[in-house]
Amino acid sequence: MNFLFLGDIVGRAGRIAVIEKLPKIISDHKIDFVIANGENSAGGYGITPSICDELFKCGVDVITSGNHIWDQKEILNYIINEKRLLRPFNFEDGTPGSGFEIYNKKNVKVGVMNIMGNIHMKKCNNVFEIIEKKISEIKLKTHVDFLLIDFHAELTSEKQAMGHLLDGKATLVVGTHTHTPTLDYRILDKGTAFQTDAGMCGDYNSVIGMKKENAILRFFKKKTDRLVPAMEVPTISGIIVEGNNDTGLAKNIYPILTGGNLKYKS
Ligand SMILES: [Fe+2]
Ligand SMILES: [Fe+2]
Repeated sequence: MNFLFLGDIVGRAGRIAVIEKLPKIISDHKIDFVIANGENSAGGYGITPSICDELFKCGVDVITSGNHIWDQKEILNYIINEKRLLRPFNFEDGTPGSGFEIYNKKNVKVGVMNIMGNIHMKKCNNVFEIIEKKISEIKLKTHVDFLLIDFHAELTSEKQAMGHLLDGKATLVVGTHTHTPTLDYRILDKGTAFQTDAGMCGDYNSVIGMKKENAILRFFKKKTDRLVPAMEVPTISGIIVEGNNDTGLAKNIYPILTGGNLKYKS
């Protein structure tokens, strides 16, 4: 079973790139299941029901999110009935939507979980305490065949600590939120694929996907207009994980970086 995970889709440029290129990526890499973080796909702020529907139509199986999930108000009602859209699991009890679901595809049970970090993020329940308890209830090959986790967090250290905590218990632990891909994709000691951050699908000639001019002014603490997404040349950034059908762990992980002006050199 081959999984594709796409980093945060930012604005129209990122969205159009994913919609146009995903079908070919799926066929070229023989992808069976696609997860994409969509929290910035509506003008950089949140996601709308119609964008979710477009992403599902082009081949995304599950959309994860993070701190921007509620930026577009109409998503509150939509998420209640759409189990393919996840919000962080460790949001307060009673929050609409769900942070963990099991999906059936090709007779395989795929668990997907979305969690959010605690450092420099909006207040949410302690992610390490919550996940330690929850993970004991989701055993690979018993409750799910594979388990993929999007850890939406600011700190590299927090994400790496989570990767090691969950090593051997999940197929993949991948970070999102910084919009900057890291080169540390690897398989950890006990078989879990890991990357600190999957990067973003958007225009990298920007500051984390937003137009650079206003983003720079903010650091001078000058009054600026609202940040808007950069719209020129988008790059799709993510990782592909080959799952081991016998163990539910990972056999292989490699990055995908396509289009735009950001490329891995070989
Ligand atoms: Fe994001
Ligand atoms: Fe975020």
